[in-house]
Amino acid sequence: METLIPTINRLQEVFQTVGTEIVQLPQIVVVGTQSSGKSSVLESLVGRDFLPRGSGIVTRRPLVLQLVNVAPQQERLKNEHGNGLKQNIQNSYTGVKAEEWGTFLHSKNQIFTDFLEIRKEIEAETERTSGDNKGITCEPIYLKIFSPKVLNLTLVDLPGIIKVPVGDQPENIEAQVQEMILSFISNPNSLILAVSPANSDLATSDALKLAREVDPDGRRTLLVVSKLDLMDAGTDALEVLLGRVIPVRLGIIGVVNRSQHDINTQKSLEDSIKDEHVFLQRHYPSLVSRAGSRYLAKTLSKLLMHHIRDCLPELKTRVTVLIAQYQARLNSYGQPVEDHSATLLQIVTKFATDYCNTIEGTARHIQTSELCGGARICY
Ligand code: GDP
Ligand code: NA
Ligand code: MG
Repeated sequence: METLIPTINRLQEVFQTVGTEIVQLPQIVVVGTQSSGKSSVLESLVGRDFLPRGSGIVTRRPLVLQLVNVAPQQERLKNEHGNGLKQNIQNSYTGVKAEEWGTFLHSKNQIFTDFLEIRKEIEAETERTSGDNKGITCEPIYLKIFSPKVLNLTLVDLPGIIKVPVGDQPENIEAQVQEMILSFISNPNSLILAVSPANSDLATSDALKLAREVDPDGRRTLLVVSKLDLMDAGTDALEVLLGRVIPVRLGIIGVVNRSQHDINTQKSLEDSIKDEHVFLQRHYPSLVSRAGSRYLAKTLSKLLMHHIRDCLPELKTRVTVLIAQYQARLNSYGQPVEDHSATLLQIVTKFATDYCNTIEGTARHIQTSELCGGARICY
């Protein structure tokens, strides 16, 4: 995701100045049966430990996770003393003395700099509305994570597909959860990460089944095969990963997340990624370069890049129209008495020029990027 951050930031900067909406990246939604590894997959994408994970029903409310890219702390603190346009645009968080932090919609003024506390707060807030006996609510928890290392992107963690009610769950829990999931993934701007464990038959994958309901052509569904390490002796997922069992247009990516034992012994995400690589080398040597959590992140970057590229022509048109509008308004003010409007015109022109350079730069970057060898993606 790192390669995309500077590009998006520049676009964002220009757009905020012109006062129009920035390119809307698709939100990424994970779908799958309970304990298939959805929360684990999301965590490895964000690169931080903060989501409640575990066997049984853990995720009991949708979590809408907004990642917000901010300037590094050093830069933010430095800018606090300076002033100017740039500061206004980029640094509305100058007061926070931390590199990365989180806030919840339900307790806006509280700033969490400890990711363990974020997890505890998700758990507490889940219990608040869903009780402590496996109940589920459809009302999402909204969490924002601010960091220089993330893209401005929304990820959604959902409760898993359930068949049989347990605890305080109502009789119609299956239908309720299904409806909740569909409400998120039917949004055409959602990219669906269908998570299916390698130790159950792909043909019975509820994740893929639901994804197909809203995305029959598979234009926005990516299949993640989790738990490659948990297959029966003598079996492997090669045929599945090669798309020979069920083809998936955007791709099928096998991963190994942390096991429950790893979670209990607090294995780090970093070690997990290393071990995943070793596992893939041993068991899927022919697929090492096309599997694993890192490759999944790369693939998502690529999809986002394609998405931006596809949005560019329309954005360019929009900015051209804006320039014309500003110009017309400026003309309607007649000749300037003082020189203020000349300054305004300079500002507008400067940003219009910057903007066009950004667009062209981005387009060039996209064309030459090695990440963009793949198929054209539509949303
Ligand atoms: P979710 O319910 O779909 O969100 O799944 P979680 O991410 O909470 O994971 C459920 C359980 O499966 C946890 O105990 C994880 O440690 C375990 N798990 C998830 N992915 C893998 C994997 O790839 N390998 C192994 N061995 N365990 C996994
Ligand atoms: Na679980
Ligand atoms: Mg979960």
